[in-house]
Amino acid sequence: MNNNWWKEGVVYQIYPRSYKDTTGNGLGDLEGIIQQLDYIQSLGVTMLWLCPIYESPNDDNGYDISDYRKISDEFGGNKSFDRLLAAMRERGLKLIMDLVVNHSSDEHHWFQQAKKSKDNPYHDYYIWRGNNPNEKPNNWQSVFNGSVWKWNEATQEHFLHLYTQKQPDLNWENPKVRKEVYAIVDFWLAKGVDGLRMDVISLISKRLAFEDVPNEMPFIDVMEKVYANGPRVHEFLKEMNREVLSNYDIVTVGEGPGVNLVHGPRYVSAREKELNMVFHFDHLTIDFGPDGKYDPVPLDFVRFKAIFRQWDEALANDGWNSIFLGNHDFSRIVSRFGNDGVYREQSAKLLVTLLMTLRGTPYVYQGDEIGMTNVAHSSIECYDDVETRNAWKAAEAAGKDMNKFLKAVHWQSRDNARTPMQWNASENAGFTTGKPWIPVNKNYPTINVETAEKEANSILHYYRKMIAFRKANTTLVYGDFVDLLPEHPQLYCYRRWDKEANFLLVHNFSDTPTSWEKPSGNYEFVFGNYSNEKQALLAPWESRIYRSV
Ligand code: NOJ
Repeated sequence: MNNNWWKEGVVYQIYPRSYKDTTGNGLGDLEGIIQQLDYIQSLGVTMLWLCPIYESPNDDNGYDISDYRKISDEFGGNKSFDRLLAAMRERGLKLIMDLVVNHSSDEHHWFQQAKKSKDNPYHDYYIWRGNNPNEKPNNWQSVFNGSVWKWNEATQEHFLHLYTQKQPDLNWENPKVRKEVYAIVDFWLAKGVDGLRMDVISLISKRLAFEDVPNEMPFIDVMEKVYANGPRVHEFLKEMNREVLSNYDIVTVGEGPGVNLVHGPRYVSAREKELNMVFHFDHLTIDFGPDGKYDPVPLDFVRFKAIFRQWDEALANDGWNSIFLGNHDFSRIVSRFGNDGVYREQSAKLLVTLLMTLRGTPYVYQGDEIGMTNVAHSSIECYDDVETRNAWKAAEAAGKDMNKFLKAVHWQSRDNARTPMQWNASENAGFTTGKPWIPVNKNYPTINVETAEKEANSILHYYRKMIAFRKANTTLVYGDFVDLLPEHPQLYCYRRWDKEANFLLVHNFSDTPTSWEKPSGNYEFVFGNYSNEKQALLAPWESRIYRSV
């Protein structure tokens, strides 16, 4: 297995809309990121992944792109982008851009042309089926609810959209589309961008028969078996790698809904020459119930650990893992996997100890470093996210218990992670002087960067310490991994080792003090999230790092 800069680094993910507004229009912008580069660098992270900042009508907050070569004026345009890239260069920070090419915006000029007539040169850039406005070509459901098919009057056929109606899927079968995509990729890489996070890249190759899915099939299985990992996906990625990616020293991470242990290794095998990493969602869909995301079930902790173990095993000799617990599409990690009440500090620290000590490249999502939490608005009107809103409408139409559904929204809505970054205790958390595009979490007077900076024991300082520790110990990057207590209902205990060192980690994922027998061996306590490691019991949400001497 080769050593690489992107294996040894740590990624910080920014949702630019919610990071820092410098114009007072209530939306974060690139100047805001530039202003905060000292702060970002002080965390010790080495790469920044920016969610999409291209021109977009924002039906899905930038995941619907209308010009792939233009940075949206809302964010400061191409000039601000160049300034940001230069400022990052000076600091040795690497930039990962989002690449959203499973679909474009319907306002992209390709689609504007494509929908005009069947003989338009761009028509075949998208996917068309059927000729009856009253009959959908099949029963596929969009990720954001409703049919995946939308009728187009001018050509008398439906087009495919796996996400919103304003996100038509591109036709990767058409070599011209692939050429366009590679040219876009080349445009950004030639500018000096260091990496790409590829949005829903597991979905680009469609099963062209478009057969109905069985009605009773849970959506999570539809994703895995019908939408994702299509027949030509590996061929397309190899082609992209050959044509453009391999010309640069970059990092690639493919977002992989439906990517499982069978397909995952193929996407990231060094031999296969496709991508460097994928984001699989096995551990983030773990609490989806029979009715999906908004029908949550309790988290099965033993399964949670098994997922990490299995993925580690699968990529131990070839390929590389991404280690993450949340992002802009999921709840706040301290609320979901920790305890955001009395043990917020301890559990947030535990979670970063976990992130920094597993094998793979760790990803930190903005605000997690100060322990930002979920929100619980009393009305759906306070939610902006198209997924949340559509799920709400569908639940209403299905006659569901909407009080119960609101609780599910509190638990699962993507807006939990999209509330503005909490910089200080001033109005709107110091995020904007205007009206924020989405409500600020009310806990900002206590949970914010300025306050955390002043407290020696804050989550923020612990993040810095943990990231530095990771970077100083390549054993934690490349070393072997073994789960020592896979069946334990609340402890996660594992070893990481190589020729250099041997670490023992233990985390108490619970509110109760838990007894633990330290494995034999000469283990010395290094540090943890509680100061007193001598106690026989592990305190609630305690994490300890030992090293053998
Ligand atoms: C995954 C992105 O992370 C999410 O925010 C978006 O809605 C979908 N892909 C569609 O692009």
